[in-house]
Amino acid sequence: MHREDIEKLYANTDLPDDRLKELIDNRTSEDFSLLSRYARERCREFYGDRVFMRGLIEFSSYCKNDCLYCGLRRSNKNAERYRLTPDEILSCCDQGYKLGFRTFVLQGGEDNFYSDEIFCGIIGSIKEKYPDCAVTLSLGERSEESYKRLFDAGADRYLLRHETADNEHYSKLHPRNMSLENRVECLKSLKRIGYQTGCGFMVGSPYQTTDCIVKDLRFIKELQPHMAGIGPFIPHKDTPFGDKAAGGLELTLFLLSLIRLMLPKVLLPATTALGTIDPMGREKGILAGANVVMPNLSPVGVRKKYSLYDNKICTGEEAAECVQCLKKRIDSTGGELVSARGDCAE
Ligand code: 5AD
Ligand code: FES
Repeated sequence: MHREDIEKLYANTDLPDDRLKELIDNRTSEDFSLLSRYARERCREFYGDRVFMRGLIEFSSYCKNDCLYCGLRRSNKNAERYRLTPDEILSCCDQGYKLGFRTFVLQGGEDNFYSDEIFCGIIGSIKEKYPDCAVTLSLGERSEESYKRLFDAGADRYLLRHETADNEHYSKLHPRNMSLENRVECLKSLKRIGYQTGCGFMVGSPYQTTDCIVKDLRFIKELQPHMAGIGPFIPHKDTPFGDKAAGGLELTLFLLSLIRLMLPKVLLPATTALGTIDPMGREKGILAGANVVMPNLSPVGVRKKYSLYDNKICTGEEAAECVQCLKKRIDSTGGELVSARGDCAE
């Protein structure tokens, strides 16, 4: 086992790249026991047993991009496309607020139908009606000017996974018109503007190596984001990666713990993808050091259409059912699902 490395990681919030690689490649179940115990301990120092909930509103399934892994890619002619109107988005928030949500996450494909003006209007209405709530955007790559306008309209946070910090790997997951360089520029703009910013990557995406993962960890450590979203890759049948293997549960959990120890205060979701590859995935994620869950607030009628990957969970349930279910699940871990805004610890 790697007791010494894990103790060092806990004490120094870092390890040299070659030790990270060794730890990941030759991890044992004893390693994970110790690592996850420390990860939870660290999380508890800043957040206690609280687990924050974010209401995810998937407002559009149109996307102009063609990422090879994503079911919403524009080449997927089988994808059912929809757009929510500003009023529909606001009624998701109304329902969410009543259920205790104090963060709303607007996520969609990169859909040019929604101009800055439309987004600013939606953000302004949410902040006016719910001044005690945070608005998180997850709208993909935009210009710094656009990010600034949305920030000035009241948006608080922005999620933009970097997907992989290795150039060559990036080019195997994305069409040629997309680049890691641009993605990183976007993340830097977001931080500069003042957003609480989140990056992240998929675990076990096709062609990912341990070197890629070590680069991801290094990238996250250097960027110092407020949030980090990681979940397993899951194939979608109507994409070029439809027959690739899904990312592993155990590696995902191991990486959640590593990230918690490298960035003690980071807000770390136990993702829906994690809950999709294992019925207890989200609980296990919390036990590995995650402290956020993001149930779906989208209208049930559109849920199945926001299909990033196959077999996504929670597509038939009403938001209220998901909250009840999650509450029980978090309770079972010894955590407490809370309704606070849940900003990053200072
Ligand atoms: N499996 C798992 N995660 C995926 N995402 C997109 N497609 C998949 C997939 N097939 C993730 C990407 C994106 C986020 C919104 O969903 O990391 O940033
Ligand atoms: Fe839509 Fe990748 S296919 S963001």
